[in-house]
Amino acid sequence: MTAACFAALGHHVTVRDIDAERIAALNDGQSPIYEPGLAELLEKHADRLTYTLSMPRLLTAARIVFVAVGTPPTYSGDADLSSVVAVVDELSAVGPASDHVIVMKSTVPVGTGQRIASALRSRGLTNVSYVSNPEFLREGTAIGDFMDPDRVVIGDFESSAGDQVGALYRPFDCPVVRTTVPSAEMIKYASNAFLATKISFVNEIANVCEEVGADIDVVARGMGLDPRIGSSFLRAGIGYGGSCFPKDVAALKQLAGNSGYHFQLLNAVIEVNELQKRRVITKLKKHLGPLDGKSIALLGLTFKPGTSDMREAASLVLAARLIAEGAQVRAYDPVVGPRAIEPVRGVSVCPSPEATIEDADAAVLVTEWPELVHLDWPRLRPLMRQAVIVDGRNALSPQLMAQAGYVYEGIGRIAEMPADAAENRAAAAAGVEPAT
Ligand code: UGA
Repeated sequence: MTAACFAALGHHVTVRDIDAERIAALNDGQSPIYEPGLAELLEKHADRLTYTLSMPRLLTAARIVFVAVGTPPTYSGDADLSSVVAVVDELSAVGPASDHVIVMKSTVPVGTGQRIASALRSRGLTNVSYVSNPEFLREGTAIGDFMDPDRVVIGDFESSAGDQVGALYRPFDCPVVRTTVPSAEMIKYASNAFLATKISFVNEIANVCEEVGADIDVVARGMGLDPRIGSSFLRAGIGYGGSCFPKDVAALKQLAGNSGYHFQLLNAVIEVNELQKRRVITKLKKHLGPLDGKSIALLGLTFKPGTSDMREAASLVLAARLIAEGAQVRAYDPVVGPRAIEPVRGVSVCPSPEATIEDADAAVLVTEWPELVHLDWPRLRPLMRQAVIVDGRNALSPQLMAQAGYVYEGIGRIAEMPADAAENRAAAAAGVEPAT
């Protein structure tokens, strides 16, 4: 991503990866991930992009070296820095003549930059500089986020190194936050943890709305109009997933704990998010009773639309819970196929939404892909055995779904029920036999 965008800005970029298949695919003109616009960008600027497995080749070609490797969580909740350390080890092999600037794009715990900088010094690499330059790209809109950033954050030990990195971002008209390396590292964690907190907060408000008869859509709108609150990231649903929020919230909690501080708020943020995915099960049981033998359709599998990423996707937890309850689970996603849901055994992946919901007792909208939100729901209604819809992303219109004859359940929304279903439920709740 970063390579493609810097190439688009006119730089010659050398990309080094340890995965031979990925490098071969890139050399063949294939994008290594599903990201809207990336394949086109890689193709358009192919003459400025070189792919290699060789670190010496990369170090000969470039002086500013961005490190963008994964930092997944370990069993203890700390970030796994082994890939970062491996890259720095290889850089060290260049010897004292090296005057490279290492720019850390990967999300690393606060203190990592200081440790790497002292490791470089102890190896005699006094001319190698270290800069922290966290990224704030969202999957699915990463190119737009790169090309039109809200801010650029640069943490450095010597301002000359920070200046060189700053120069790369000169085409952008946005605030540049120049700071120390630990502060830059913390900005990244604090930003993701705050956004995750906002989501867990609005999800809890939605849960309370359900109890008291308020509507989260209106509540979130009413809150978001206050610029101190802001309207973004107030979409209630079945919780956040992906490769960043769950990992970064856990890593910040761990980092605080390792330094002797108990970050209470983040514990709640994580717990709320875990429970939120499971509320779908309660909603299904409310309408279907025990789920044993029931057929449930999952629409969307990825952690959000616009990506093929399944990391920490709510669908995985949901599918596993449904299977544990004895339900038959069928699923459809516009981008990912059966392999994506392989970690959960027993899910049948269907070739179309129609095949997924045929004879289903209920369907759950797990990912708000536009092609799923805009399905011809009235036409699909007769395909289902029972027309219960749990809208895990509050993306469907309760009114239209009710008009089409569905029993609609959102998250913290006032549900509009078809008249006969509402009558039936009221009668059942009153302990009388519903009229047929
Ligand atoms: C997130 C941040 O938004 C980026 O700024 C950051 O650079 C990135 O992590 C990262 O650290 O690399 P991303 O994981 O791509 O980006 O996805 P988001 O769009 O933030 O969504 C994360 C999750 O929150 C999704 O599961 C989404 O469905 C959920 N979400 C988001 C909500 O449930 N409600 C909302 O209002 C917004």
